[in-house]
Amino acid sequence: MSETSPSKEGPILTIVGDLVALGPLRRDLLPLYQRWVNDLGTMRTLGLPPSPMTSEKEEEWYERQSKTEDDTPFTIYERETLRPIGNTGLHGIDHRNRTATFGILIGEPECRGKGYGTETTRLMLDYAFTALSLHNVMLQVFEFNAAGIRAYQKAGFNEFGRRRKSRMMGGRLWDEIYMDCLSSEFERPVTTGKEWGISAWLSPEGTARIEVGSDYGETAR
Ligand SMILES: CC(C)(COP(=O)(O)OP(=O)(O)OC[C@H]1O[C@@H](n2cnc3c(N)ncnc32)[C@H](O)[C@@H]1OP(=O)(O)O)[C@@H](O)C(=O)NCCC(=O)NCCS
Repeated sequence: MSETSPSKEGPILTIVGDLVALGPLRRDLLPLYQRWVNDLGTMRTLGLPPSPMTSEKEEEWYERQSKTEDDTPFTIYERETLRPIGNTGLHGIDHRNRTATFGILIGEPECRGKGYGTETTRLMLDYAFTALSLHNVMLQVFEFNAAGIRAYQKAGFNEFGRRRKSRMMGGRLWDEIYMDCLSSEFERPVTTGKEWGISAWLSPEGTARIEVGSDYGETAR
């Protein structure tokens, strides 16, 4: 069994929300991760080329992601069943400028449209702002990904720009949309359960609101 394989106690969980929980990447889940990114529809929304992802390429991705200091990759679990359902992460983390780029994949199709993507996004924003002290998190999403855009808006992201007609899909060109969220705009609490979520980082007693002082002396909720 690898170090990150689930033990009798279940998988390691770093952040626990109401609907989902997030834990480290796991080598034993590589075949599952590989299956998720071999779905053509998923490749399309992630902007991956529509070519098969081999286990060798997936292994390389895992080797890079499991060791890099610039990214924080997680496995997403359905909280109730602890079934692995996707991946998420902050990428290109720049601590000097306090920025990062957000990415997400709910790999199990039947787990989409249940609020899991929205909660994962909110948990990751809270993690970025509260645990990593970042100030600006951005993402890219294609105009045709209505579920993604809606989930990101609900989680706290706002559009700040578009690269127009830059993505070919289904015989037409679509915009690439850029969204961001500032720590000073982000609304907490993310979860209802007082012991859950990244709130524990700053507030072990789980008070409903975390006061996070920024560099500029303002108070970011
Ligand atoms: C995009 C993704 C992360 C969203 O996560 P999710 O768990 O499916 O999303 P949620 O259930 O939290 O929210 C989806 C919202 O979009 C809405 N939605 C879904 N399909 C829609 C459509 N075609 N048009 C408009 N709204 C739509 C849902 O109704 C819901 O909004 P509501 O709660 O106000 O009703 C997930 O579907 C996914 O991983 N897809 C494949 C990979 C991907 O696209 N990754 C992101 C690349 S940027």
